[in-house]
Amino acid sequence: LRRVPLFSGLTEAQIERLAAGSVRRNFPKGRVIVTEGEPSQSLYILLSGRAKVQRSDTEGKEVILAVIGPGECFGEMSLIDESPRSASVITIDTSDFMAINKESFKSMMMSSPEMCLRIMAGLVRRLREADRKIETLALLDVYGRVARVLLDMSEKVGEERMIRTRLPRQEIAKMIGASREMVSRVMKGLETEGYIVPLGEGRVLLREKLSTYLV
Ligand code: CMP
Repeated sequence: LRRVPLFSGLTEAQIERLAAGSVRRNFPKGRVIVTEGEPSQSLYILLSGRAKVQRSDTEGKEVILAVIGPGECFGEMSLIDESPRSASVITIDTSDFMAINKESFKSMMMSSPEMCLRIMAGLVRRLREADRKIETLALLDVYGRVARVLLDMSEKVGEERMIRTRLPRQEIAKMIGASREMVSRVMKGLETEGYIVPLGEGRVLLREKLSTYLV
């Protein structure tokens, strides 16, 4: 638990109390961990793997709000405001989690101003990202939206940027409100024009000029 950034400022006694109220779990790919609209019992910390945060309408159309990676927490919103779960969270890969029960989380928040600040910093970061996404959706065309998702997924490798983990086109489509076919067409176009270079096994090299789509 100490290696989780959220808890790094806690005392030994606080960590022990938290550990007593938490369980470690492993889930396969595609498992629903949190269901939109349901009451909440736990806060989760992703230790390994990836998970997507998504909402769906009554017709089953889905939008992916975020992809969560190791060290990040989720499920805190409904614990804080006592409302139903704001979104569903589903594993993308086989993933390890720490589930902390509501009471332990709340008593930790009450006893550690440092942890409250970290939770707030996490919420603020998420709001910043949401603002950026609203901007992307409102101002960019579909090429720009795909470029933004690809750049966000990528890491810097030397002078270039590279995507190392596979994300299906269907999932990219759900992140930007486009169809899978449209995402495939845009990706093909970006490849033909030399903006992206597929390297096999899901890895993709992003050329610097890809960022010209963001303006
Ligand atoms: P909760 O509402 O309890 O359950 C769903 C969780 O998804 C929510 O808490 C947050 O932890 C997470 N979540 C909701 N919206 C976003 C978002 N825009 N970005 C990242 N995570 C989110």
